[in-house]
Amino acid sequence: MTTGTKEHEYVLGRDYLSSARLNLQHYLWVEELGYHVHPSIPLKPGAKVADVATGTGVWMIDLAHRHPDVSFHGFDVDLAQAPPPEWLPANAKLDVMDLLKPISDEFAGQFDVVHTRLLMCVISENPAPILENLMKLLKPGGYLQWGEMDHPTHRFEKSKPEHSIEWLQQAGEFPSTLRTEDTRMDARWVSQLAEYYKKGGLEVVADEHKYRGSSHLAFYCDPAFMVWEEWRSKMAPKDAAKYGEILTNAKKEVQDAKRGVSINMEIRTVVGRKPE
Ligand SMILES: C[S@@+](CC[C@H](N)C(=O)[O-])C[C@H]1O[C@@H](n2cnc3c(N)ncnc32)[C@H](O)[C@@H]1O
Repeated sequence: MTTGTKEHEYVLGRDYLSSARLNLQHYLWVEELGYHVHPSIPLKPGAKVADVATGTGVWMIDLAHRHPDVSFHGFDVDLAQAPPPEWLPANAKLDVMDLLKPISDEFAGQFDVVHTRLLMCVISENPAPILENLMKLLKPGGYLQWGEMDHPTHRFEKSKPEHSIEWLQQAGEFPSTLRTEDTRMDARWVSQLAEYYKKGGLEVVADEHKYRGSSHLAFYCDPAFMVWEEWRSKMAPKDAAKYGEILTNAKKEVQDAKRGVSINMEIRTVVGRKPE
């Protein structure tokens, strides 16, 4: 046993550090891509948008302010990281939804746009059952936008050739060496998502992938360490001790390089349309 989490348990945390990480990731993500909603998706006045596995609700809330004429509905299996209903924009609300269970009829076929992001730590191998649930939420002709970090594309970047990345590499790759037991931090299905869309009956409208630009790499390194620390907190004691040592040395490498070393990986965005 290498991790303390069971297959259907969430591998990351839900405390203030995890929430701060999600919010930081969101703002960096949107800056990097230049949009909240992919330009291929028409967001018309009166549209109904679902944000599934919403986390802190940051994507939905950020967007609700920009589109007061659109209604937003966030869902998550656990709303512990989201704000209270009193603090939501007037055009946004939240409900509990478990994507691993059948979707309630109440929400089926209700949404013009369904957004989800960062399910890589929720889905081990096969996104098809979750994709089916997301599709059920869509109206005929509705759009699904799914964003992920594609961990298998990861690479390590240096601002100067002489910087060491020996420990940083181990920090970024150690979770994938646990692959035989838990593939959630090294999701192999992400690069195949468009194929899953087609098999599931969605028309693929966009399938884009993009590494982060160098001006965000130093910022991105911080949430990467936060994820690794969270991952470590759920490891069995022997692995936690070994990984702790790797992280300590990797942090020193980042300091020695004056923040000039980082992990990078592609952000993947796949947009699909449900047939009319
Ligand atoms: C890495 S966070 C991403 C949050 C948000 N989508 C974002 O990009 O900021 C993953 C989210 O998936 C949620 N989640 C985990 N298992 C789930 C399930 N079975 N059904 C719905 N949401 C789930 C977690 O509670 C967490 O909020």
